[in-house]
Amino acid sequence: MSAASAREATPKLRFTAVAKEFVAPRTGKRTLAVTDVGLSIEAGEFVCVVGPSGCGKSTIMNLVAGLDAPTSGTITMDGRPIAGPGADRGVMFQDYALYPWLTVSQNIGFGLENGTPGRGLSRAERDARVRHFVELVRLKGAEDKFPHQLSGGMCQRVALARLLANGPDVLLMDEPLGALDAQTRLILQVELLRIWGETAPRAERKTAIFITHDIEEAVFLADRVVVMGTGPGRIRAILPIDLPRPREEGTRADPRFAALTKQVWELIRDDAYQAIG
Ligand SMILES: Nc1ncnc2c1ncn2[C@@H]1O[C@H](COP(=O)(O)OP(=O)(O)OP(=O)(O)O)[C@@H](O)[C@H]1O
Ligand SMILES: [Mg+2]
Repeated sequence: MSAASAREATPKLRFTAVAKEFVAPRTGKRTLAVTDVGLSIEAGEFVCVVGPSGCGKSTIMNLVAGLDAPTSGTITMDGRPIAGPGADRGVMFQDYALYPWLTVSQNIGFGLENGTPGRGLSRAERDARVRHFVELVRLKGAEDKFPHQLSGGMCQRVALARLLANGPDVLLMDEPLGALDAQTRLILQVELLRIWGETAPRAERKTAIFITHDIEEAVFLADRVVVMGTGPGRIRAILPIDLPRPREEGTRADPRFAALTKQVWELIRDDAYQAIG
């Protein structure tokens, strides 16, 4: 096998029989958060994970981020087991977690100034990188503002720019648009795909795992939707989303879009009703 085909044969991320059990320190109570998770994600793929509250979505994200380790099974990145957090994976959560005392530019450059991503870069290179990402997320003119002077959508753009400025290979996003109003959310979905590299060749795209409660959001964004269920958390189905890219406002009017969202809803409906009792 040539080096190139060997690379193609190795997925960016591979989950093999992954389970995670939590044990409460005081009571010893065990919770099997997820079990039997098997999944391969190719480089440049955009995978959305949907499922009812408590099905283990964030648990899976934390395992890929290396913030936690599986109880059994393995997760590999580029064929190597994930052993802990690393700059090759960038994480973004629902609360923007911006530093309130830093400006937009300083927030975006934080990892470059203080972490491994900026190592070996000159002052000028760091500044240029921050400027590049300020422009990419359309925040030019707001560089010197502080988070309290920004709208929720702008804060989320800063968080996204900060994530990207660190140059991760894999983007891990746990309900990043969850706190936004519905209109801003629709706009940022389109922006996110542009920034991810929707119009670029596949080789230039990041690999993305995006968690959401919003089925339409998942179908709009994803190459594949992973549908999870509860009791215990596990993968119920994996749906390829064959809607053409770039996705745009018209995508939501495509009859296949409606059919796919209906299909996902039918897969999670029973669990979702159970989750709310
Ligand atoms: N640190 C922990 N200790 C004990 N139990 C935990 C811990 N983290 C998660 N759990 C349990 O594992 C299960 C999965 O939780 P997780 O947060 O992954 O769900 P989720 O799908 O992200 O839910 P949501 O949609 O509400 O964010 C739940 O039963 C939860 O209570
Ligand atoms: Mg969660």
